[in-house]
Amino acid sequence: MAKISYDNVQDYLISLVPPRDSEMQAMEKYAARTKFPIIGPAAGYVCYQIARMIGARSVFELGSGYGYSTAWFARAVKENNGEVVHHVVWDEKLSTMARGHLSRLGFEPLIQYHVAEAVATLRQTPGPFDLIFNDIDKEGYPESLPLIKEKLRRGGVLIIDNMLWHGQILDSKDREKTTAAIRKFTKTITTDPDWIVSLAPVRDGMIIAYKK
Ligand SMILES: C[S@@+](CC[C@H](N)C(=O)[O-])C[C@H]1O[C@@H](n2cnc3c(N)ncnc32)[C@H](O)[C@@H]1O
Repeated sequence: MAKISYDNVQDYLISLVPPRDSEMQAMEKYAARTKFPIIGPAAGYVCYQIARMIGARSVFELGSGYGYSTAWFARAVKENNGEVVHHVVWDEKLSTMARGHLSRLGFEPLIQYHVAEAVATLRQTPGPFDLIFNDIDKEGYPESLPLIKEKLRRGGVLIIDNMLWHGQILDSKDREKTTAAIRKFTKTITTDPDWIVSLAPVRDGMIIAYKK
């Protein structure tokens, strides 16, 4: 019998994701070549599935990169006859790359681009949102949570990436600031009775939190 390991389970999860079109494949290849940390196909498909399941019509992303995770949300919002996906990154070059990819994918009318700090942008953008996705620098996670909670509608979903932090979260001796921030965030959200929270061990771990 084959042994279950983290890596072979992840490979299996990816193998179950339906084939992506050439634009999405090009984005995946770019990430592999440049080591850019996109969520990848298995986590992307979970994001798409959840957004479809809750009928998300408005999505706010914090830390969008060159638009790979945005594309999964935009696909769901389009299929839900929705309105908007906010793409927020503080790097002009990544925003420009995202514009190219997302327009070739046919999502351009749905996307609002912001080249700015993500938490400040969320604060200035009228909500509420059906789904919020957080993938900013990890030290920023704990501080972002109260605002995210305020901006998410009741019955909305928050998805946060990197909650296993490449396994560092399991190392009790790890004292890095990023690990501490992820621990603090996890403790706060899992002990707040306003949320129903699970951590899905897909790629680097995603918290999926339902706002009651
Ligand atoms: C992990 S990458 C995003 C990957 C993207 N979510 C995907 O899966 O395709 C995070 C990006 O957000 C940017 N970023 C990090 N913290 C940010 C913040 N507070 N405000 C705006 N951009 C931020 C980083 O520079 C990086 O380009």
